[in-house]
Amino acid sequence: MLAIDEMSITDAALDQMSATPNPRLQEIMSSLVRHLHAFAREVDLKPEEWLEGIRFLTSVGQKCTEFRQEFILLSDTLGMSALVNALHDKRATADTTKSSLLGPFYRQDSPTLPLGANIAGKGKGMQVVIYGRVVDSAGRGVPNASVEIWQPDDEGWYDLQLQDPSQMDLRGRFYTDSEGRYYLRTIAPTGYMIPMDGPVGDMIRAQKRHGFRPAHIHFLIGAPGYREVVTALYLSGDEHIDSDTVFGVTESLVVNVNHNDPAAPLPNLPSIKFDFQLAALAGDAMLGRVGADPSQIVKKAADGGH
Ligand code: BEZ
Ligand code: FE
Repeated sequence: MLAIDEMSITDAALDQMSATPNPRLQEIMSSLVRHLHAFAREVDLKPEEWLEGIRFLTSVGQKCTEFRQEFILLSDTLGMSALVNALHDKRATADTTKSSLLGPFYRQDSPTLPLGANIAGKGKGMQVVIYGRVVDSAGRGVPNASVEIWQPDDEGWYDLQLQDPSQMDLRGRFYTDSEGRYYLRTIAPTGYMIPMDGPVGDMIRAQKRHGFRPAHIHFLIGAPGYREVVTALYLSGDEHIDSDTVFGVTESLVVNVNHNDPAAPLPNLPSIKFDFQLAALAGDAMLGRVGADPSQIVKKAADGGH
């Protein structure tokens, strides 16, 4: 007969899982149990605190819909998404643009547009052109690479937050030309507060955090044979550039808006130039997305994860 106490419970739980046939599942679950138990012992977790945690996670789940992913928001605000991105980047076998958060506002079915098109349907805000190349690790252009872009408007709102989700704005997919070049028009976004009307917002307020993200534009870059890159470009000068609530900013992703760039494809507009670098796919590399279109997550969960 086992004598269960606050120490032996860990081995008892690990023992019951020890026959898990999938070795990766076994590794992840046993490590999770060890760390969860150590956490409870470290803080001497009380029953009412345990129940508060259960209530919190229940309300996080209840807040999730086809258009809202509160669990991703929780992961983001705990620094977990940025950590998984950093681990993912460490596995790249060649130089590549650094990852940054996919966030809860990505949609996989944004419209494909011709190079040079304007993604800002409503057109409010400072017009800018974003241009550059998608290159491989040796700096050679990658033709026909997919460049997906999504961003908030000049008041910090994404289309998903503002309007009927069947209508899309400030997002699109472009393909690079034969030399790997891309360019598009948009408006400069502003920084914004992450969605604060759910349990994650309650947590942020309880921690006296400001809840802001600095102004940024999201990108998902991919091409056959290359490891895809989920990233974002951050506009220099934003007051929250060093205190992003979700830890997405890294130096190499900070860009300037240039007001006098004769090399820009539309030289009369302010411009942002950025070359995205893709590493070749290696070994068992998987998708680089720490996140997904919220509607796909809900669909997959309803299908039992299959
Ligand atoms: C975003 O950049 O879209 C985002 C990322 C994490 C939390 C909230 C928003
Ligand atoms: Fe964002």
